[in-house]
Amino acid sequence: MIFFETSILSVMSDELAGKHIVLGITGGVAGYKAAELARLLGKAGAQVDVVMTAAAIHFVAPLTFQALTGRPVFTSLWDVPQENGMAHIDLTRRADAVIVAPATADFIAKLVHGLADDLLASLCLARDCPLLVAPAMNRQMWEHPATVRNMAQLRADGVGVLGPASGAQACGEVGAGRMLEPAEIIDALRASFQPKMLAGKRVLLTAGPTFEALDPVRGLTNSSSGKMGFALAQASAEAGAEVTLVAGPVSLPTPAGVTRIDVTGALEMRDAVKSALAGRHIFIAVAAVADYRPAVPVAHKIKKGAQTLTLELVANPDILAEVAARPDAPFCVGFAAESQNLAEYAEGKRRAKQLPLVVGNLVQDGLGGNANVVTLFDAAGAHPLAPGDKLTIARAIVRHIAEMLDAQN
Ligand code: PMT
Repeated sequence: MIFFETSILSVMSDELAGKHIVLGITGGVAGYKAAELARLLGKAGAQVDVVMTAAAIHFVAPLTFQALTGRPVFTSLWDVPQENGMAHIDLTRRADAVIVAPATADFIAKLVHGLADDLLASLCLARDCPLLVAPAMNRQMWEHPATVRNMAQLRADGVGVLGPASGAQACGEVGAGRMLEPAEIIDALRASFQPKMLAGKRVLLTAGPTFEALDPVRGLTNSSSGKMGFALAQASAEAGAEVTLVAGPVSLPTPAGVTRIDVTGALEMRDAVKSALAGRHIFIAVAAVADYRPAVPVAHKIKKGAQTLTLELVANPDILAEVAARPDAPFCVGFAAESQNLAEYAEGKRRAKQLPLVVGNLVQDGLGGNANVVTLFDAAGAHPLAPGDKLTIARAIVRHIAEMLDAQN
């Protein structure tokens, strides 16, 4: 008999609460968005110190940021409230992260060359905390070989690059170079603060539906959106893992730092998993794989006419079961989407495939939407997680996996 725990595992509080963020603002039209960014950071519980370059104050007044953060705004290396006159040192010693938004092409070039001719550039050089930049510039400046070279160097130096987005620009042109929206920057900051619980681990995931072609225009599929699997890929990458995601046909952006392999049918998904499996520590099967596919592929469109049409289907291989049965199997995590009897069916799948962990969800809760309600099933019993958005739940699942792996060692 299985003993099921009934306690709800807690979901993390806001990662930004109590964090000290230095918000650097350089001279671009997108400076107006930095005001909203400062407001959102404060709302999330972060303490924000704003540092503006001489050019930035031509676009937005320092007083705006002072009012939004309730703290003095720093604009010069020479006119600083610090007793020792060393704001570039003091500010970064207290900071959990420096984020420069907007970051102009000029400021990025300065960072690349280690120039320190104003307060913001100096503190970026003097910091020992993570630095993130949100570039904002005209599309031709963004595409210029000098900027392309500088961005590559910045990334190589370990600076986090957020965006830019594409779209209409203040100059009237359309293209890449728009600063990300403040809410997107906040999300990226939250992601950067995730504990690196899977550092050194290599994770392989499947996500989304499969599409089993009946003829060149029709097929069998299901309504999995891929959101749960993509959220888990993102959460694994945030936790420091090297992540490869085998995705069925979905239209979702690839999470930052994740290698994506797009597939269509179950056989293709199985081939992609097999060829990406070597050296993986963790395999997470989130995909809603079609159990059957048409026995005979039809090369031409099936014509209308007959009153009945009989399809012959054959079973697809069970990708997860095959991986879990390997002698060198990684730590395997299965998913179970049920419409009833969740605990019984999910635990049944866990035992049948001999998996350390199965994530159970009701189809009515998890399929398609942005939120989910899941229960984790492992040898210790059932662990219901608090309902939440899929990324929050994915982070909690990653935490559970990391704890199980730690306990094994
Ligand atoms: O994509 P979303 O809209 O965000 O929805 C997420 C989800 C509901 C699809 C996801 O949370 C989920 O529950 N996925 C598993 C769906 C399911 O019930 O699968 P299953 O019972 O058919 O398979 C059990 C496990 O075996 C799953 O891990 C599945 O990926 C794996 N499997 C199944 C069949 C097969 N041929 N190969 C497999 O690897």
